[in-house]
Amino acid sequence: MRVLLTGGAGFIGSHLSERLIKAGHDIICMDNLITGCESNIDHLKGNPSFEFVDHDVSNYIEVDGDVDAVLHLASLASPVDYLNYPIKTLKVGSLGTHNTLGVAKAKGAKYLLASTSEVYGDPLVNPQPETYWGNVNPIGPRGVYDESKRFAEALVLAYNRSHGIDTKIARIFNTYGERMRSHDGRVVPNFIDQIIGGESLTVYGDGSQTRSFCYVSDLIDGLMLLLESNVNEPVNLGNPAETSIMEFAKAVMGIAGKESEIVFEELPVDDPKVRRPDITKAKELLGWEPKVNLDEGLARTIKWFRNKQ
Ligand SMILES: NC(=O)c1ccc[n+]([C@@H]2O[C@H](COP(=O)([O-])OP(=O)(O)OC[C@H]3O[C@@H](n4cnc5c(N)ncnc54)[C@H](O)[C@@H]3O)[C@@H](O)[C@H]2O)c1
Repeated sequence: MRVLLTGGAGFIGSHLSERLIKAGHDIICMDNLITGCESNIDHLKGNPSFEFVDHDVSNYIEVDGDVDAVLHLASLASPVDYLNYPIKTLKVGSLGTHNTLGVAKAKGAKYLLASTSEVYGDPLVNPQPETYWGNVNPIGPRGVYDESKRFAEALVLAYNRSHGIDTKIARIFNTYGERMRSHDGRVVPNFIDQIIGGESLTVYGDGSQTRSFCYVSDLIDGLMLLLESNVNEPVNLGNPAETSIMEFAKAVMGIAGKESEIVFEELPVDDPKVRRPDITKAKELLGWEPKVNLDEGLARTIKWFRNKQ
């Protein structure tokens, strides 16, 4: 396939580029590098199957030649980023999704949206199945991200129903691994940077809030299976092993082999108290479930963060 991959210079996008090339596909990686980095894709640039295009997908997109699949990953994706760029976040979820769907329609390509567990907001149901409609505050500071993805999902399904485009929606839960950015406000790089730097670990709230962490290679397996499937409705992709932030802090210390003090700060507005995917659908429809446990994934990630210092 010839694949248009937006957000391809980001954390997940760069891993997906590698996997798609390995599977024999040609990639047009489109990214405006607002949060992505060229160092994530430098090793792919000499590959004849890889082309980088510096472009903001919230503006009209032109691609010459055939395109068989459009994968829309471009977004401001971490709390620090979407709070810094609230309007760009809404634009890439709305205009960016519209523009990329336009390419899929014009080229007769299939389409995959990287959506998020944040469509469930601060959930009143745990674990979250795809049938749960969510509990989102549309006008809170996080609303710019959550609502951009909820709008994007609605638009993708409207294109599926109105134009018959073969669309897929991955509801991605917290994913971590090599190439996450330091200081992006997500708990995994925060804790790892703090422990490597000999600083205390910052826990927001009392640390009883839960998250489920999926290692990036597992997520990429899930995205590839979804892309190849005939499933058009949203599918949760995440690791159902749920851990509290306090337990997670202890796990990071254990794997890093270092102790650190924990300091507590105020919980951000609308921070979800629980987060755990129900992955029954991914298991049944895609035959997918995560394979890498937290200790193994954390060890690989911490090693990568240490080597890049
Ligand atoms: N990492 C996670 O835990 C997670 C969880 C849920 C959903 N997601 C989704 O997965 C996708 C990838 O996330 P990530 O963690 O790799 O984040 P990331 O910030 O590393 O990657 C996002 C990429 O999109 C690019 N981008 C942003 N706006 C753009 C625009 N207007 N035009 C072109 N490029 C633009 C950025 O430069 C960056 O390279 C996002 O859509 C995100 O919402 C990620």
